[in-house]
Amino acid sequence: MPRVLLLGGTTEASRLAQALADAQVDAIFSYAGRTESPLLQPLPVRVGGFGGVDGLRAWLQAQHISHVVDATHPFAVQMSCNAVAACAATGIPLLALERPAWQAQAGDHWQQVPDMESAVGALPDAAVRVFLAIGRQHLAPFLAQPQHWFLLRLVDASLELPPERGHIVLARGPFTEAGDTALLQQHRITHVVAKNSGGSGAEAKLSAARALGLPVILIDRPAIPLRPTVARVDEVLQWITGHHGNTGVATARGV
Ligand SMILES: NC(=O)c1ccc[n+]([C@@H]2O[C@H](COP(=O)([O-])OP(=O)(O)OC[C@H]3O[C@@H](n4cnc5c(N)ncnc54)[C@H](OP(=O)(O)O)[C@@H]3O)[C@@H](O)[C@H]2O)c1
Repeated sequence: MPRVLLLGGTTEASRLAQALADAQVDAIFSYAGRTESPLLQPLPVRVGGFGGVDGLRAWLQAQHISHVVDATHPFAVQMSCNAVAACAATGIPLLALERPAWQAQAGDHWQQVPDMESAVGALPDAAVRVFLAIGRQHLAPFLAQPQHWFLLRLVDASLELPPERGHIVLARGPFTEAGDTALLQQHRITHVVAKNSGGSGAEAKLSAARALGLPVILIDRPAIPLRPTVARVDEVLQWITGHHGNTGVATARGV
């Protein structure tokens, strides 16, 4: 019988957790433990890092895991690399559930950049009002630019900004184009900075920027080694239950 480790922290992971629970698949859901109030899951949940590749390898063996599904965020590169290495070392099959990246449409004013550092460099020298939609981990190099004003949207109240430097909105997606358009207008935003996360829940800010004709600095996904990847929950279920032998196209991002 399969016993699955589901590496979570995304909408797709929560959808897969529900599908696994509905199919009565023996599975454990893993959170990194970054947020104060993570969504409840219909599966047994563990929280916190495994302790690098060695820790993950030992955990997989101790828990008799037969399948690993990496449904972490496309920017959770360390966890994804660790999963590739630990699965290779143990021989446990790995499948990534990954949403396709966003593609520019007519009317978009995107500047695509390879990393955070380039995104900081892509902002104008003159003072601008930025919707900085990158989560909370990489804010420091942006906030070190004293001339700019920043609108942040976070899940937890884990940070404070003086009003002359910016404003923090506490919210959890999915977001709507109408809501994000109003947000950008209310704060007189001139530039949007975002990660190319893909998916529908966070796309609204890009639609809003398009509607308002605003420039977007879009950060490319980081490189991850070769691993089989699918985009849909039902493909993961087929892989686990063994009805289709060759699920997943082996892909590597940028390596
Ligand atoms: N990065 C983003 O933009 C983003 C956005 C939305 C949600 N998330 C979610 O937030 C979590 C952390 O993201 P991150 O970018 O900080 O990851 P990361 O940099 O790739 O991971 C750093 C370390 O955190 C631990 N970790 C990460 N995901 C884990 C998981 N699902 N279960 C157990 N341990 C985990 C691992 O610690 P050990 O080495 O000790 O095992 C990993 O080496 C992920 O689960 C991701 O899906 C991330």
